[in-house]
Amino acid sequence: MACILLTGGAGYIGSHTFVALAEAGHDVVILDDFSNSDPGVVARMGRVAGREPTVVRGSVLDEALLGRVFAEHRIDGIIHFAALKAVGESVERPLDYFSTNIGGLMTLMRAARAAGVWRLVFSSTATVYGDPGDRAVPETAPRSHTNPYAFTKLTCEQMLEQAAAAEPWCVGVLRYFNPVGAHPSGLIGEDPRGLPNNLMPYVAKVAIGALPELQVFGDDYATPDGTGMRDYVHVVDLARAHVASVEALLDGRAHTLNIGTGRANSVLELVEAYGRAAGRALPYRVVGRRAGDVAITYADPSRARAELGFEATLDLDAMCRDSWRWMRAQASGFRLNDPE
Ligand code: WQD
Repeated sequence: MACILLTGGAGYIGSHTFVALAEAGHDVVILDDFSNSDPGVVARMGRVAGREPTVVRGSVLDEALLGRVFAEHRIDGIIHFAALKAVGESVERPLDYFSTNIGGLMTLMRAARAAGVWRLVFSSTATVYGDPGDRAVPETAPRSHTNPYAFTKLTCEQMLEQAAAAEPWCVGVLRYFNPVGAHPSGLIGEDPRGLPNNLMPYVAKVAIGALPELQVFGDDYATPDGTGMRDYVHVVDLARAHVASVEALLDGRAHTLNIGTGRANSVLELVEAYGRAAGRALPYRVVGRRAGDVAITYADPSRARAELGFEATLDLDAMCRDSWRWMRAQASGFRLNDPE
């Protein structure tokens, strides 16, 4: 059993990772400023996991606070989720993204080094591959950035590479493809503020009646049904990958891994799958392409299988069913006993 610090641990992927770590018998300390999460999620995380995490409210940019966290808790490893992550927003607010994403990692590393904590899992993204084309993307694919968000993630990866060459950092870089879904309990899930940028949360709001219809961004791509294709990975699978990653670091095994299923589904396939979960056909309208979108991207997941023994097991229907249960539970104020 270890004590793991989750920065941004009350967020979408962080909350599911807390549950997976608790189920694996680890202690968890969460640092979160709740800028993009609801404090009420902590109690629900505790209900799912059977015990609540230790929560420190604050920013990963607050080096003095970080120093106190490391002084008051015997932290064995860190999983760093705290960051800004909306591509479109990053184009409008690049300096905020540089400060929070790059400055935040630097601050965290300074505090961790001062405390002698050298094991760090970094939350990265498949966006660093740019447009890899219609092939399963290996970790050796060229990296590039087409927006400030991707620039910050690529820069952080390179900072970690260079730091590990000079000091005893043991780093796990996880490049997520498209995380979607929710915990099967219906108690935690994706709860984006404002209008969702991403497909699944937008479709979920159409299904629950909070939005009138989905706009499909283009159906003239070189794909079977003309709509964009992505490697959607269930957030519960992704959380399991984080447990395997931090446990590999505790064992001294650094890594850089794609976390995906190795399969791609189209926008229309996801809309149909969500309709099956919600029990009705969901309304959509095809509009023009979104700037910056690529036709298809999906992972070669073989290195994660080889190095962590990790494989995603949950399929698109499970992702949609769990997301739909979460939407209904939220709409009921979490009073549904069995939100099937
Ligand atoms: C998926 C598909 C759209 C919305 C982004 C970031 C990536 C990561 C995940 C942070 C595409 C189509 C979408 C809509 C649509 N985020 N779509 N209508 O763009 O693959 O990845 O989110 O780490 O870094 O780049 O995900 O869900 O936005 O889009 O038709 O209202 O759905 O064109 O084909 P994306 P997405």
